[in-house]
This record gives sequence, C-alpha cells and structure tokens, in this order.
Amino acid sequence: MSVLLSRLCVSVRPVRALYGLRNSGTGAYRGYNTNPAFRSLTYLQRGLQYRSVSSNETENRGNLCHNSRLYTTSQTVDPLEMRKFQAWVLKWWDEEGIFSVLHALNDIRVPFIRDILMSRNYEHDVGCPLSGVKLLDVGCGGGLLCEPLGRLGASVTGIDPLEDNIKIAALHKSFDPVLEKHVQYKSCTVEELVDGHLGYFDAVVASEVLEHVADVESFIQSCFHVLKPGGSLFITTINKTKLSYALAIVVAEKIMGIAPEGTHDWEKFIPPEELERLLESNGYVVEALRGMLYNPFSGSWRWISDNSVNYALHAVKTVAQEQPTDVGGEGEQEQQKVAEASV
Ligand SMILES: C[S@@+](CC[C@H](N)C(=O)[O-])C[C@H]1O[C@@H](n2cnc3c(N)ncnc32)[C@H](O)[C@@H]1O
Repeated sequence: MSVLLSRLCVSVRPVRALYGLRNSGTGAYRGYNTNPAFRSLTYLQRGLQYRSVSSNETENRGNLCHNSRLYTTSQTVDPLEMRKFQAWVLKWWDEEGIFSVLHALNDIRVPFIRDILMSRNYEHDVGCPLSGVKLLDVGCGGGLLCEPLGRLGASVTGIDPLEDNIKIAALHKSFDPVLEKHVQYKSCTVEELVDGHLGYFDAVVASEVLEHVADVESFIQSCFHVLKPGGSLFITTINKTKLSYALAIVVAEKIMGIAPEGTHDWEKFIPPEELERLLESNGYVVEALRGMLYNPFSGSWRWISDNSVNYALHAVKTVAQEQPTDVGGEGEQEQQKVAEASV
C-alpha cells in the first residue's frame, strides 16, 4: 500500500505554485523574512555554528550525533522526536516548505489566543492588545508563533528542548528590532522551567506539540505549575480518529507530501475527550474546544464545528485548587521576583 502511495506521491506545493497560489489567507500573522539572507542555508548554518557550548553543558545534556546536536533530556522528551526535528532545523522560516502548514495556522491560532486573552480583562494599550501579558510558548520550534504574539505586545518566552531550534528562533528574531523587548528564547523543557517560575505566566501555549511529547500528563502538570491561578493554557493538536490517520498521515504525509513522512505517530494523537479529562483531573477547567480544518489546495485553515482531525483548546488554571507543591504561597511570590529577574 505504502509503495503504491509513494508512487502516486504528488506534492501539493508545486500544484499551488503552478496556479500562482501562495498560501491564501490574510497572512497578517505569518512570519516575514526581514532579511532575504535568512533564506540562505549557508547563512543559517553559519548562525548555528555561533554556539558556545561548555564541556559541562555537553555532559549534562542528551547528545545526538556529535557535540553540535544537543537537546535537553527529560521525562517528556522523546529522543526520536528530537532526531526528527534536528533534521528540519533549517526549514522553520521557509513559508513554502515543510512548516508551511504551521505558518498558515497563525492566521487562526493568533486571533484565537489574542481574543481570549483580551476578553480576560488584562489591561492593555490601544494597538498593543497583549501588552502586560506574560506568555510562555512551550515547544516553540523556530519561533513561528512567538513572533506575532510578541508583535501584539505580549512578553513572550519561547522554549524548546532542541537547542538548534532556539538558535534559529533567536537568529530570526534579531532581524526585527520590535521583537527585541518582547520575545526571548531558552533551550529547555517546561518541567525544567518550573523551578523558579511557579505561578509566573499569564498564559501558556503548546501548539502542535502534544503529539510529539513523551508523557502528556507530566507535561500539562508542569504547564499548570508555571501558570498563575486563573491563567490560560492554549493547546492545538490532533485527534486520534480513523479520519485523522487518513488525513494527517496518509494524505498529508504519504500522498501529498505536505509534511515529511514520519512526522506524526498516530499512537501519540490524543482525543479531545481524553485531553479534557486529563486537564480537569489536573486542576484546569476547559473553557473552549474548536475544530480546525486545513485545506491543502488553498493552503489555509478555518474553524469548523467538527473536531475529529485538528482542534484547539483553551483551559484555565483553577484558582481554588492548587497542586501539592509550593504553588500560591509566599514561596510563589518570592519565585516570581526571581523569575522577573532571570527570564
Ligand atoms: C510541530 S513543532 C511545533 C512548533 C511550534 N509550536 C509551532 O507551532 O510553530 C513541535 C515542536 O515541539 C518540540 N517538542 C517536542 N517534544 C517536546 C517536549 N517534550 N517539550 C517541549 N517541546 C517539545 C519540538 O522540538 C518542536 O519544535
């Protein structure tokens, strides 16, 4: 079957190009390549060489291939996933490349996050709707989502276990001076961030990350710890249905080549009902759940009522129920001061 499919393999990107179609949609929240040099592989590779890795750092981290391929090890990190993303590290900002679907997803996920946060009564400046919001983007990759959220005024911390992703994100950010004050990056996992950031963030985003994580429950528990009581968790991910297997794996990976083969493992997809149960038993209240649909011919996403393939979820950390660790006490206030200084 897969041989037959690979023989039939037609990339949708050349088809779109043939008709002069770029990804459709407003594009207002897509990344822009301020410096054309950013598209050059040599330029990016040179950027990645400017690493300063101490020998201690090398010893303390998982090591893929050789010293220049480092990732943070932890309970939620699957080394196989790191190996995949390491291979694609230079592709993040190619809007027509393997991450084009994520670039396009900004058209709906950025307004989703923005509108919910604005409705939660944060004080904001006109024209800078997310000013004052401390936001953590977990599994930020090359920073595709951090940048537009930073431009909306949020104070964004993007983290990813893969160090080269963070290098690329930081390099791309450096081309837009507006982002200097708004976006910062760190190579780590969310569980590593907990110590020192208890109850620190107003919002945590994990977009298209859950389906790559090794232990979903500890992942959402760590997100809980770094959120303020009443803070928002935003997740976008893929449902575990026959249809999601057909569309996200067979059609997208094997037939149309929208994503490289092996990008997704169906076993790791999570049904929204299961995710809701997991969130609610870990102190969150789920406030919104919406289906999303990608049209490979127009290269655009839209909201739909059906969530059998892709979906977005918004959950809130309950104010009353706290986890057994030092969340919410004097220790938390002390940690917030430390975090302000260190993030
Ligand atoms: C499909 S990409 C999504 C990137 C980004 N969130 C976006 O939507 O543009 C998945 C990202 O999750 C990261 N990742 C994988 N396992 C992770 C984990 N346990 N904790 C945090 N990030 C992880 C990968 O390194 C990769 O950058």
